[in-house]
Amino acid sequence: MSRWTSASAAAIPDSLSFAEAAALPLTSLTAWESQFDRLGLDPDGAEAGSSLLFLGGAGGVGSIAIQLARLAGLTVIATASRPESRAWVRELGAQHVIDHSQPLAPQLAALGFNAVDTIANFADSDAYWAVMAELIQHQGAIVAIVGNRHPLDLNLLRDKSVRFTWEFMFTRAKHRTADLAQQGAILDAVADLIDTGRLRTTLRTHLGPISAANLHQAHTQLETGRTIGKLVLEGWP
Ligand SMILES: NC(=O)c1ccc[n+]([C@@H]2O[C@H](COP(=O)([O-])OP(=O)(O)OC[C@H]3O[C@@H](n4cnc5c(N)ncnc54)[C@H](OP(=O)(O)O)[C@@H]3O)[C@@H](O)[C@H]2O)c1
Repeated sequence: MSRWTSASAAAIPDSLSFAEAAALPLTSLTAWESQFDRLGLDPDGAEAGSSLLFLGGAGGVGSIAIQLARLAGLTVIATASRPESRAWVRELGAQHVIDHSQPLAPQLAALGFNAVDTIANFADSDAYWAVMAELIQHQGAIVAIVGNRHPLDLNLLRDKSVRFTWEFMFTRAKHRTADLAQQGAILDAVADLIDTGRLRTTLRTHLGPISAANLHQAHTQLETGRTIGKLVLEGWP
């Protein structure tokens, strides 16, 4: 195994099956790096009480991100549009849930938020760009994990001196960054949080072995844009 590959790896949590563990690494790295490395929030709670809005709370990344944010003491607002996805994000720890199929600002205002301190966009950078500029607190920060299809107007963030950052979980491995081993450390930390009962797996649907039919079913489900938690396929027929 080359050095950069092993630096991004960690042993799976003792308390999980392989399928339960398989649901976690990519999304945990994305969620952790988004909040703690890119937005600069403190996993140990130095910003406890500050608000973090997750756009797309019930998906694979959102499902682990909500849990990590609560462990860091943040006030979590997650978007979810259906009864089952709303119930899921609440179960994971979101204190507030708003519906992304409706305008967000009035829903936040009804909850007492005129603005949010940070935003993590796990859904659509184009569709939410202007909305995020409106909702973010002055001197706040925004992270996005989904690439844009059209140019984004950075000037919308200027008046409030808002910081914007991308998160791409392959950056460290692709560019063999000096801090690549941080990914192994994150996975170790996540495994420890799982084994001590402070995080739970995000596996929701086990689709069976890796067959053409099951892969097709997984892709069809993912393309609905309505997946809750993570899908896993395991082993061979
Ligand atoms: N940059 C990176 O390193 C990185 C890493 C992982 C994933 N990604 C990308 O990040 C995105 C999210 O990944 P994921 O696995 O979390 O997705 P996912 O599991 O497919 O997300 C599904 C969830 O998205 C919600 N959703 C659908 N339309 C939405 C909208 N317009 N606004 C807000 N939420 C909406 C749905 O909620 P409701 O059912 O409640 O409507 C659903 O629960 C994907 O595009 C993926 O490719 C990037």
